[in-house]
Amino acid sequence: MQDNVNSLKNTVCRGSTTSLHPSQNESGGGYTAIRGFIFACTQKSEYECLNRLLFCTDQVYGPIVVRIRQGDLLFLNNVETNMLHGVFKATSDGGFNIQPNVFNGKYPYQVQVQPLGQMTSLTNAKSLLQKRGIKRNTPLFGERLGDFLDLFMPQQSRLASIDRSDSHNTRELITQEKQRIRDSIHKVDVETEIPLVEPTTFWDFPKQSYGSTPKGNNRYPGVTPALIIYNMLWRYTKPGDLVVDPMCGSGTTIDVCKAEKRRAIGYDIAPAHPEVIQNDARSIPLEDKCADMVFIDSPYGNNVSYNTHPSNIGGISSESDEFYGELEKVMKESHRILKEGKALGWLIGDQWVKRKFTPVGFEIYTRLCQYFEPLDIICVLRRGQSSNTGLWLNRARRLNFYLRGFKYLIIVSKSPSYGKRPEKDRKVEWTYYARER
Ligand SMILES: C[S@@+](CC[C@H](N)C(=O)[O-])C[C@H]1O[C@@H](n2cnc3c(N)ncnc32)[C@H](O)[C@@H]1O
Repeated sequence: MQDNVNSLKNTVCRGSTTSLHPSQNESGGGYTAIRGFIFACTQKSEYECLNRLLFCTDQVYGPIVVRIRQGDLLFLNNVETNMLHGVFKATSDGGFNIQPNVFNGKYPYQVQVQPLGQMTSLTNAKSLLQKRGIKRNTPLFGERLGDFLDLFMPQQSRLASIDRSDSHNTRELITQEKQRIRDSIHKVDVETEIPLVEPTTFWDFPKQSYGSTPKGNNRYPGVTPALIIYNMLWRYTKPGDLVVDPMCGSGTTIDVCKAEKRRAIGYDIAPAHPEVIQNDARSIPLEDKCADMVFIDSPYGNNVSYNTHPSNIGGISSESDEFYGELEKVMKESHRILKEGKALGWLIGDQWVKRKFTPVGFEIYTRLCQYFEPLDIICVLRRGQSSNTGLWLNRARRLNFYLRGFKYLIIVSKSPSYGKRPEKDRKVEWTYYARER
């Protein structure tokens, strides 16, 4: 492989301007928005990134990489030397395993890059980024990106005659980029902050959707908060995987999968999204072991009126055995279509109706465990409920009952489970007891 590092480090990149036309949309016609993204590296990985002209990262920052388009602008932050290198231009879309064996497969989220003229390296990267409120998951666009580019603009020599042609070339390229950014400002299509996966078992999403496009229909009764599916995807699948939602309603799973570059098939007894296929979840028309993940936000009983279809399980009370029996058929089908070792997420809530509490979540968990291995349970804060009014809050206090405040996201896997249990007995050192000794 040609050694690119030295030529870049000398900040002279002859002939390395990208072949992309600076102001054209690669798909032809109009402009696409230009965004900027920051990658991080260490001393060791910097060499590999610059030499291969390939920026790489792991699953944590995968959501950022799948949003990168050819033509976006990239910067490389060496967190050890505290340097920020730029400007680079993406010559591919962000992808998964573009070069599979780089870093022993540790950093599969990758994008190919070319320097935009001369590479400039700025010192004090940390404070420079902090001052501007720029994190790795905050894409730059519009004026903010234009201003950021100015940092990398080579200084003009006072004697124009001795101005080096490389600097001149870089200045021109950056100026062209700034124009391209201005021209496409009205088309910006990326979040101001790309969500990272939740680190704890308590999730709270104030909004139903995220990003610049709708995910599902937030007027659909019982619509799923899109970030629940987002978190499931980024924890348990990778780009290109097949995700199946047998009770897909207004299609939130389909929309989230599209945004996160997964394939999706959604069914519902009464579809409310053009791509959701009409089907009864108790018999899924897919072959065995084809899905990489199943997500289900099932009815929690007959508390919500989804539709009047006679096969709607949401018409059966969760106080009856029949309800669980019918959902168990959905569990069996989900188990059949799921690949070995892959995950299923089931969103469910308990019921309190007419002074009677029904622990729907525990019952669903027990039934799921007959087929799957438990991986975890997430507590999802309930928001946007019709009972979230002063009247109901007061009633709950006066009449001594609780309004439902959370749902369970039960995560299970089709055995053999994730990361297989160790052969030997595990020895856990509990900090508390260790301290006591
Ligand atoms: C909580 S909603 C799902 C919401 C969906 N995830 C969304 O974001 O729009 C439950 C869904 O289960 C569907 N459903 C009920 N019985 C079904 C059955 N037998 N087969 C397939 N879907 C069914 C309902 O029509 C409803 O859309």
